[in-house]
Amino acid sequence: MRKRLIAGNWKLNGNWSLCEQMLWALSGENGFVAQSNTELVICPPAVYLSRLSQMISASGGPSKLGGQDVSADIDGAHTGELSAAMLAECGVQYGIVGHSERRLRFSETDQQVAQKMLRLSEASITPIVCVGEALAQRDAGQALAVIEAQLQPIGEALLANRIAIDSIAIAYEPIWAIGTGRSATPEQAQEVHAHIRSVMEQIEDASGLRIIYGGSVNADNAATLLAMADIDGALIGGAALDPQQFSYIAGL
Ligand code: PGA
Repeated sequence: MRKRLIAGNWKLNGNWSLCEQMLWALSGENGFVAQSNTELVICPPAVYLSRLSQMISASGGPSKLGGQDVSADIDGAHTGELSAAMLAECGVQYGIVGHSERRLRFSETDQQVAQKMLRLSEASITPIVCVGEALAQRDAGQALAVIEAQLQPIGEALLANRIAIDSIAIAYEPIWAIGTGRSATPEQAQEVHAHIRSVMEQIEDASGLRIIYGGSVNADNAATLLAMADIDGALIGGAALDPQQFSYIAGL
């Protein structure tokens, strides 16, 4: 059975106060009960990772830490970049790669996203690989084809490097649903998730692959999305900045 993965992507938001409030909301003191079949990941800006890792250990809480991005390079003269090994040293166990905000704003290609995934895998960090179509692509009936193209270098990199398919997670994040308040319907998301599983099935048995949904997930719509057969969790932006909402979704 696939373990549910609930990840909060803070993006360029948060501060020490939010770190403390989030840990408190996810502690037993608040009445929050961690589900044994759910993995909880917080992805704050990188400067908070190291100390947050110590705070999580000290609190004995269930949260794991995730990075929001990683360099495609191992080391060297790359000003401003963070390597997978550095993230691992800061206690990071998950890493987001290929978020549409990075693909669009920093022109990241599918090949670079696959490289970043490899860097994380080498450092024993579980990659969360984001894919998703723009609204115009969906309206043109191209959503599944766009996602297949994004997945192709991912599949090739997994095969070439003998990386087990269930050691990564894929996040389906339709661009039109991110930060817009307009989530995909559970049926729309399920259709794409099932397609992603069937595409990845061509590489190896994908029954253990976690495919999570992201795009305006909140306390009101999370349960119906998570009830779908191929939706194995959520990648949450805005609602992950609200400790009450995030802990509620994590406890579903
Ligand atoms: P959102 O962001 O929940 O604010 O739509 C999701 C994401 O970008 O991962």
